Amino acid sequence: MKIAIGCDHGGIVLKPAVKETLEALGAEVVDFGTFTEESVDYPVYGLKVAEAVASGECDAGVLMCGTGIGISISANKVKGIRAAVTTNTFMAEMTKRHNNANIIALGGRVVTPDEAKDIVKAWFEAEYEGGRHQRRLDMIADIEAKYFK
Ligand code: RB5
Repeated sequence: MKIAIGCDHGGIVLKPAVKETLEALGAEVVDFGTFTEESVDYPVYGLKVAEAVASGECDAGVLMCGTGIGISISANKVKGIRAAVTTNTFMAEMTKRHNNANIIALGGRVVTPDEAKDIVKAWFEAEYEGGRHQRRLDMIADIEAKYFK
């Protein structure tokens, strides 16, 4: 499993914990930056990770910004991306089981590195349930087909 990670300066505090957790779970981590605490623009990193996942270069992704919100909104502009902000393990597990989220987004000003570890693990280990949830994901894909060029 190859996991793309990316963050801005607001999320970089979580990156070591996220990377360490993913590697302990057996994933290969591809780090798309940022690499310093200098202020940067989160859409750049949301796009890099989203493109890596949408193209199949990576299987899934983890994004981090101050809240997880801006970077997830950016990623969700890429066709095929289902990026979910997760602030606890319940959200993380459910967004895999029901939404088959291929990216989760965390807030460095919202959760601690220890909480981020548990959240990433819960999402990574959960399994998509399919069934009635697939009908809803197909409906989301229909919205994409209608509005994405
Ligand atoms: C950067 O200050 C901050 O706006 C960003 O990290 C993120 O929280 C946006 O949603």
